Amino acid sequence: MCRHRGARICVDEAGSVKRAFQCPYHAWTYALDGNLIAAPDLTSMPDVDRVAYGLAEVHLREWLGYAWVNLADDPPSFEDDVLSAVTERLGTLEGIDGYEIDRLSVGKRIVYDVKANWKLIIENFMECYHFATIHPELTEVLPEFADGYAAQYYVGHGAEFGDEVRGFTVDGSEGFEKLPALEEDRDRKYYAITVKPQVFINLVPDHVIVHRMYPLAADRTVVECDWLCAKEVVDTGRDVSRSVELFHRVNEQDFEACERCQPAMSSRAYAHGGVLVPSEHHIGGFHVWLVRKLESAD
Ligand code: FES
Ligand SMILES: [Fe+2]
Repeated sequence: MCRHRGARICVDEAGSVKRAFQCPYHAWTYALDGNLIAAPDLTSMPDVDRVAYGLAEVHLREWLGYAWVNLADDPPSFEDDVLSAVTERLGTLEGIDGYEIDRLSVGKRIVYDVKANWKLIIENFMECYHFATIHPELTEVLPEFADGYAAQYYVGHGAEFGDEVRGFTVDGSEGFEKLPALEEDRDRKYYAITVKPQVFINLVPDHVIVHRMYPLAADRTVVECDWLCAKEVVDTGRDVSRSVELFHRVNEQDFEACERCQPAMSSRAYAHGGVLVPSEHHIGGFHVWLVRKLESAD
């Protein structure tokens, strides 16, 4: 955001910049450290201090090849808030290392515009009770999910591929080679991690699926989903469509379910909420987390 009159400075999805960002409105120019370095007639504007009108700083960490931004002045610890989600799910933080996610390439990105609140999407992602009803392809590949087994609840548990399944693809056919640094016991298993409040990480032996949620309104969330594959897979133009199609269908099935629930969120008949069945009890932990965050918010 430009410090002059608030224009958005960079509108490109991707690219590179050599020495400076220049605002397309009145050409204020900022160095890569955010300092204001040039503006038309800057020398004749004593009120415009180059440091005071530099770009606003945000807290930033790089992890898994993504930039993790926190807009709070005093952000919570990245270790406690983000990395702990991996430890809680996999048992150890190192459990995610074998996928070498920061070395993978984007095989496919799909953006979904979901007419539902982000919390419905989290709740949906946390439970498997709905799998037998709405995810026929996924339960073919991961048969234990058909029993509504709460895979995210048991630390270290990965959902096992079915006996006949050769890969995490829409028809259970062969996927790609196992990611090279992955431990043998991770082969043929699926793990899902919820990094509250906005990110889901899905781990399978030959690729990784990352969801990032952007809440835009009380009843609208944009979800960007990346299918990350080994660099050679992407560089050599191998067909990723069967791998992508499996979770793309899961996404569409899930988001449709969330959209089906959204209207009830403002209904008097649902004012006191619903009920969590035993395989959904852990969602209560998300509710407690949320209430605490809201209570501690200014
Ligand atoms: S708004 Fe950016 S230079 Fe004026
Ligand atoms: Fe689902």
